[in-house]
Amino acid sequence: MMDKRTFLRTGLLATATAALNPFKLFANSNQTEIINEETFDFLADGPFTLPDLPYQFNALEPHIDATTMEIHHGKHHAKYVSELNLAVEKMAYKSMKIEQVVEAVKPAETKVRNNGGGHLNHSMFWKMLRPGESGMETGRIGQLLNTKFGSMDKFKEQFNTAATARFGSGWAWLIVNPQGGLVITSTANQDNPLMKNVVGKDYGYPILGLDVWEHAYYLKYQNRRPEYIGAFWNIINWDEVNKNYEAGMKKFGKRV
Ligand SMILES: [Fe+2]
Repeated sequence: MMDKRTFLRTGLLATATAALNPFKLFANSNQTEIINEETFDFLADGPFTLPDLPYQFNALEPHIDATTMEIHHGKHHAKYVSELNLAVEKMAYKSMKIEQVVEAVKPAETKVRNNGGGHLNHSMFWKMLRPGESGMETGRIGQLLNTKFGSMDKFKEQFNTAATARFGSGWAWLIVNPQGGLVITSTANQDNPLMKNVVGKDYGYPILGLDVWEHAYYLKYQNRRPEYIGAFWNIINWDEVNKNYEAGMKKFGKRV
């Protein structure tokens, strides 16, 4: 007999692309993504929960449109949380904080790796953005980036290159490494720089991240990923980046 979850999944799959008009562009661009991620509305209860967005869906317009934000948060992020709850049901991870889960996960623990990473990446990402034109940072982290990369424009150029060059789905990051250095890196899929068993020498604390999965930009920008990356610089919450920098330095026992 079909359980509730299987029933819901089957029913939703049967009516998927026809019923969900806003997702047609996703369907055209990446059929696998819509089947796997957009049509599954069953949400499993568990220790991990979907955080609220700290602003309205339309707050980041014109840079990121309201529909993208609604689907990204309410469907994609929600799905990572739900799948993570199912994955950890019988594991010690269920009593850990998400940062601890991500830090401890092993490469072969695929479900926890993908969904745990997806949950933490998006939880951090929402807070790294904010409404209004933010301009380039001139505070503490701005000074450090100027020193490290030569200028904010040069930092931006290198970060953009990491985001553009990430093949397929993934993230571009600015991290603090265990030596207290600022490093630009990128990860595939939903890997997070805190996954020390996965990312090896690129291990560090993420202080700024950009989601370059198609689901983050396709409705507005279609295949123009560089345009989306350019728009990102207008909506960065630099206060949050500074806070993340302090948290990263503290984690690695470094003075700010
Ligand atoms: Fe995403």
